[in-house]
Amino acid sequence: ERTQVGIVGAGPAGLMLSHLLGRAGIESIVIDLRSRDEIEHTHRAGILEQGSVDLLVDRGVSDRVHRDGYRHNGIELAFGGSGHRIDFQGLAGASTQLYPQTDVFIDLANARERDGGDVRFAVTDVSVDGLTSDSPTIRFTDSNGAAHEIRADFLVGADGSRSLCRHQVPEAECTQYFREYPFAWFGILTEAPPSAPELIYNHSPYGFALISQRTSKLQRMYFQCDPGENVDDWSDDRIWDQLQTRLGANGYTLKEGPITSKTVLPFRSFVQEPMHHGRMALAGDAAHTVPPTGAKGLNLALADVRVLAEELERAVRSHDAAPLATYTQRAVARVWKSQHFSYWMTTMLHTLPDASPFDTRRQEGELASVTGSVAGSTYLAEAYTGWPGSK
Ligand code: DHB
Repeated sequence: ERTQVGIVGAGPAGLMLSHLLGRAGIESIVIDLRSRDEIEHTHRAGILEQGSVDLLVDRGVSDRVHRDGYRHNGIELAFGGSGHRIDFQGLAGASTQLYPQTDVFIDLANARERDGGDVRFAVTDVSVDGLTSDSPTIRFTDSNGAAHEIRADFLVGADGSRSLCRHQVPEAECTQYFREYPFAWFGILTEAPPSAPELIYNHSPYGFALISQRTSKLQRMYFQCDPGENVDDWSDDRIWDQLQTRLGANGYTLKEGPITSKTVLPFRSFVQEPMHHGRMALAGDAAHTVPPTGAKGLNLALADVRVLAEELERAVRSHDAAPLATYTQRAVARVWKSQHFSYWMTTMLHTLPDASPFDTRRQEGELASVTGSVAGSTYLAEAYTGWPGSK
């Protein structure tokens, strides 16, 4: 088989890229090790920047994000005994949209099906080869057990944080940047009404907690925990006790309900540069990971493929790999701004295991500097909503 662009990974990055290429008249084949059902049922983050919403709507994926999503014009930063609102509209003239990544995936998968896109889920034995040749190759076995070899003009690794494609780049050809954090998030879904109109990022002497939402009847919440924490050790009572204690420190009381999902999410910062090698480009988590505080992961992946689609169109039409270097150049600036923002939100709000009372009071001073200043809170508002006006 032949195609113009072979894409490994059918998450939001891979599917959005395939969709954008399709609109430009470029054919692609997308494969994924996971089944469609498996991807649909993996809970991920829920906040879209305005630019991500626009990409879904303006490029004809779906307008369900407007109908089923919820617009948020700000967030609460809670610390030192009370909440402090960051007014995104007033400070940055922008908003975010609460719309889960699983719904973004469903919209993209439906749009690919509607437009005749070629997406193959639940494949096995994936390998990529010939990245620096004129005709890189993907091999895999499909869900019926048939072996395939796809020759492409270009390949894209959009295959997530444990990317197989990334591992094909020789060590001498790239630089990897890492940072680890000594904590994780315990994430829950609970069948309860919202506890507040907007998201609460809650700093406390007992550790960080984030109160997010899904619908009027289902809420998403997270609290900082040890990375080695086992969900089986956490009864609903123990979870609510932690959440109420942390939020109570700032004067909030949470509305409780049955907890229907419990997971521990790892924290890591990672970037691999350049974001291309030969005739392969990396996009989304395959090229970089951010810690979840600030919900940049999905937004950054969509920003990558918006640029990558343009550069791949040039590359395919000119039979030349040079536009992939331009892709790295254009995408990497936003990657490092997002890396900084996610790191900054994380370190400002979380408690280190060996934190002293000085450290906690200093963080409160930092949070007061941000919320008490138009300049400080404008930085947060602009970064959180996705640097409005940036391309
Ligand atoms: C959600 C996740 C985040 O990491 C965040 O910063 C905000 C919201 C969420 O899942 O709703």
